[in-house]
Amino acid sequence: MKEDKVSSTALTVLQGILYTANRKKFSHLVTDDMKEACKKILKSSKEGQKRLKQLDNKVFNLSVPIIEKLMIPGITLHYVLRKKYIEEFVREAIKRGFNQIINLGAGFDTLAYRLSQEFNSVDFIEIDHPATQVHKEEALIKTKIDNLHILSVDFSKQNLEDELKKFKNFDSDKKTIFISEGVLMYLNEDSVRDLFNSLKKLTNSDMEFIFTFIEPMSENRDSYGMLLNLYLKIKKEHLFWNIKKGKIANFLKSLDYEQKFLIDTDSFKEMYLPDIQATLHRGEAIVVAK
Ligand SMILES: C[S@@+](CC[C@H](N)C(=O)[O-])C[C@H]1O[C@@H](n2cnc3c(N)ncnc32)[C@H](O)[C@@H]1O
Repeated sequence: MKEDKVSSTALTVLQGILYTANRKKFSHLVTDDMKEACKKILKSSKEGQKRLKQLDNKVFNLSVPIIEKLMIPGITLHYVLRKKYIEEFVREAIKRGFNQIINLGAGFDTLAYRLSQEFNSVDFIEIDHPATQVHKEEALIKTKIDNLHILSVDFSKQNLEDELKKFKNFDSDKKTIFISEGVLMYLNEDSVRDLFNSLKKLTNSDMEFIFTFIEPMSENRDSYGMLLNLYLKIKKEHLFWNIKKGKIANFLKSLDYEQKFLIDTDSFKEMYLPDIQATLHRGEAIVVAK
């Protein structure tokens, strides 16, 4: 990502959640709490305020399904589904005694912000690229939550293990959940491997890692629209880390991890939309590993 620019995809995720919350068919998937937090974070930056305004614009709302169809059909609903699963997983992990939750590439995600207020005895750390982090900090600093901490790291340039070890709010003895949602695809494979290796070495207690990955686009052609396919044809290359679902267990093994669950689009459909017709994005899945 660009050095000095807030991640525009991180803003797009929040906007996509609020857009989905406004659709009758799917509004039940987004809690009021989540909506409020999304709005609060968007309001804190100029670009975010623009995105909020767009949501009130009729033309914008009419054009979203067309743009989605041309680029990544079903992507806004996908953001909501993946966030819903990750939240349920984290809540359940807290019940199992995990007391440190670390979100890698948190962007403008609201999970740590919301759960840190609900679970006072659990520590939450959000890590992101410095350019994105500054804007998040502005939004959260006014709230001052004692158990919510923020750290800037560029995963492609800095070593996560070194940076977290230096960070006073990180405790290597705590039972830790690491989250990486919609992030690994922006790194090259060496940085992804370094990140997995760092996490293993960071904790002396139980740790689990919930992350999302994308498959090569050729695996799910229908999940990518005409414009994106055209772009890829011209580019003739994949810019980001991707891996086939069938290969992820071995990839994890090579890094001394074990795959606990794999949640894909079929799982989302079964869990959250059993009786609802919807266009679902199939290019990204969630894995829980330890
Ligand atoms: C698509 S956003 C996802 C944000 C959030 N996890 C979510 O799902 O709502 C990707 C995030 O990855 C972060 N990111 C990308 N490259 C990074 C890097 N090299 N180091 C740290 N963070 C990075 C961006 O700043 C951005 O917040």
